[in-house]
Amino acid sequence: MADLTTEFAGIKSPNPFWLASAPPTDKEYNVRRAFEAGWGGVVWKTLGEDGPPVVNVNGPRYGAIWGADRRLLGLNNIELITDRPLQVNLDEITRVKKDYPDRAVVVSLMVPVNEDAWKSILRRVEETGCDGVELNFGCPHGMSERGMGSAVGQVPEYVQQVTEWCKQHSDLPVIVKLTPNITDIKKPAQAAKDGGADAVSLINTINSITSVDLDLFAPEPTIDGKGAHGGYCGPAVKPIALNMVAEIARTPSLQGLPISGIGGVTTWKDAAEYLALGAGNVQVCTAAMTYGFKVVQEMISGLSQYLDEKGIDSVHDLVGRAVPNLSDWQHLNLNYITKAHIDQDACIKCGRCYAACEDTSHQAIAMSDDRTFTVKDEECVACNLCVNVCPVEDCITMVEMQPGEVDPRTGKVVEKDYANWTTHPNNPGACAAE
Ligand SMILES: Cc1cc2nc3c(=O)[nH]c(=O)nc-3n(C[C@H](O)[C@H](O)[C@H](O)COP(=O)(O)O)c2cc1C
Repeated sequence: MADLTTEFAGIKSPNPFWLASAPPTDKEYNVRRAFEAGWGGVVWKTLGEDGPPVVNVNGPRYGAIWGADRRLLGLNNIELITDRPLQVNLDEITRVKKDYPDRAVVVSLMVPVNEDAWKSILRRVEETGCDGVELNFGCPHGMSERGMGSAVGQVPEYVQQVTEWCKQHSDLPVIVKLTPNITDIKKPAQAAKDGGADAVSLINTINSITSVDLDLFAPEPTIDGKGAHGGYCGPAVKPIALNMVAEIARTPSLQGLPISGIGGVTTWKDAAEYLALGAGNVQVCTAAMTYGFKVVQEMISGLSQYLDEKGIDSVHDLVGRAVPNLSDWQHLNLNYITKAHIDQDACIKCGRCYAACEDTSHQAIAMSDDRTFTVKDEECVACNLCVNVCPVEDCITMVEMQPGEVDPRTGKVVEKDYANWTTHPNNPGACAAE
């Protein structure tokens, strides 16, 4: 059996699945249930300083985007950091950590950009016996208007400064949680590293408005006739988050900085993808909110089986395996040729491939009178659109061919041959794409 244990920024956990800082980790009751279900660690819902209580809206705080089967694809929220008193949270964290010494308990923090505020909360958090702190520089709504959250995460100088204070005033591992609401994720990641961070985690939520009530003419969720932008998460954000994780993982100056991958992790496969692209573990919020804590059991068994099948001994050995294969466009092999192939037994004759290709692409699919759809190899540029719009999985596949090879289905020679493409310093295709 593959070894699922991880050591992330010096913090040990029995598996790489942590719950992200959010409602699932807001209180002792939840976290105990999560640990009983099998989660390897939690990042406690963000704590703020003692002071005027944080007050959430009392109307709906979530908006959503669904797939055609009503499966939740994207979740939008306008929730603030914890609205429970600081000392109540700290007491609960102390009890939970004592009862679950083998699990990772990290505490998320957000206080104003003020050294004394950070020093004071760090001192109190350390007394809980927790394993580390995560600095929430990411929340895009509510707290950012008060100069916290993404208002800090969007300014690399602040990221570095606050990280330095935390390293100076605490011995705990410091994980800096990054906001995706920025042009170049490498900048705040570098600032975190320069400030001495032990790791970064990403992504926090993306600025979003999920929908508009067309009777009230107000963004949803609507609170008494008005709406505000919120933070987007769930499966829809995974591609954006994966790219940001990979950008950090492949940047030379950021080597050695552990990354906790967050955003849309719903299955073991999502997690394996993050790990392969350089994350040392993953954090999950929306999937737990959608399917409950036991969703982790599928993640654990799926990842374990995958590693065994691949002959990979441990999670550690999977981390970063795909990073060397992440390339820039100009290094892609133009001699790699594929053509679409339609499996006639699987085809349900819906014609989506034909409509997409005929109207919007390369007119490379023929339709006969009896609605048999076949690929015209000589027109097919292998764009993959037919594969993506086909409702039947694996009905259309891309078949690899060699230049000069005779396509057995058409009897024609595959003509494309950019034998010298690598010698072009300025590949014209690359320029056009930019
Ligand atoms: C309702 C809700 C509340 C959240 N609150 C926090 C928070 O207090 N602190 C924080 O760092 N992130 C917070 N997040 C962001 C999550 O920790 C996570 O970064 C984000 O949801 C992406 O992961 P996911 O796609 O698995 O949901 C919250 C997310 C949601 C949905």
